[in-house]
Amino acid sequence: MKIIVLGSAAGGGFPQWNCNCNNCAGVRSGTISATARTQSSIAVSNDGKQWVLINASPDILAQLRATPALHPAPASRDSPIAAVLLMDAQIDHVTGLLMLREGKKRLPLYCTEPVWGDLNTSLPLAPVLSHYCGVDWHALEMVGDGPAMLPVQIPGVDGIRFTPLALSSKAPPYSPHRNHPVIGDNIGLLIEDVATGKTVFYAPGLGAIEPQVDAAMRRADCVLVDGTFWTADEMITLGFSRKTAADMGHLHQWGPDGMIAVLDTLPTQRKILIHINNTNAILDDHSAERATLAQHGIDVAFDGMEINL
Ligand code: MLT
Ligand code: MN
Ligand code: ZN
Repeated sequence: MKIIVLGSAAGGGFPQWNCNCNNCAGVRSGTISATARTQSSIAVSNDGKQWVLINASPDILAQLRATPALHPAPASRDSPIAAVLLMDAQIDHVTGLLMLREGKKRLPLYCTEPVWGDLNTSLPLAPVLSHYCGVDWHALEMVGDGPAMLPVQIPGVDGIRFTPLALSSKAPPYSPHRNHPVIGDNIGLLIEDVATGKTVFYAPGLGAIEPQVDAAMRRADCVLVDGTFWTADEMITLGFSRKTAADMGHLHQWGPDGMIAVLDTLPTQRKILIHINNTNAILDDHSAERATLAQHGIDVAFDGMEINL
């Protein structure tokens, strides 16, 4: 199985258009050692020919241009993108769907019923796309009341089993159920190479480590998880927002109840943070926070990173 990180930043990207925080100003001026990053998405393949995009980032066109494996082939109007699977209905994960509108057939789209609901109501991308390529929705379904969900295999991407897991995080601010979470607003994904049994657990928005999440993380050979914020009150301290990380559905990294402490308990070989917010000091290669991650054996995803399992 092959994974390419298309975008490793949280919503806003890095640098963010209107932000002058240390990181954003520093990467623009070249005064810190940091690399720009686009908004959150990964691509998954078994054979390197057909790919599933996990999330469709607003930066998708730049991401596809930068990734030769996703260039059009073999016909004159064609694409190796077999399908898109969504983790939630957040702007940084879905608005790239509009950029795929020139597709020659209906776009296979895998997401939960609550996410499909948002995309047909408060952020009506599906009705809009029906005037272009159209979308062929495949429901990601609960087993009973959840949080366990039925695995799916995606035509064209044979040999990979995707097992979603309902997560505690947040629906987008515009969702009718932002303040009344429903099961399926957010998922994590266990991505398994059926032939080798190797697995990756992917969860760019992870608010809490519930038992099913802990089990999935323990089982995985590689975890690719929420690296949005270093501290719980990062956005408040910087004066950028009144929301804590938890208010936004993200588990911060630092401290006894943070992600580093969780990752420390895992036997997992590869531990990688993804969906990094532009305010997070780990984006500076020479920061103390980045050194702390290295001491704990934790990597920071970057655009173009490849994971082969
Ligand atoms: C989030 O995950 O909270 C988002 O990145 C926020 C956003 O896209 O504005
Ligand atoms: Mn996000
Ligand atoms: Zn910034």
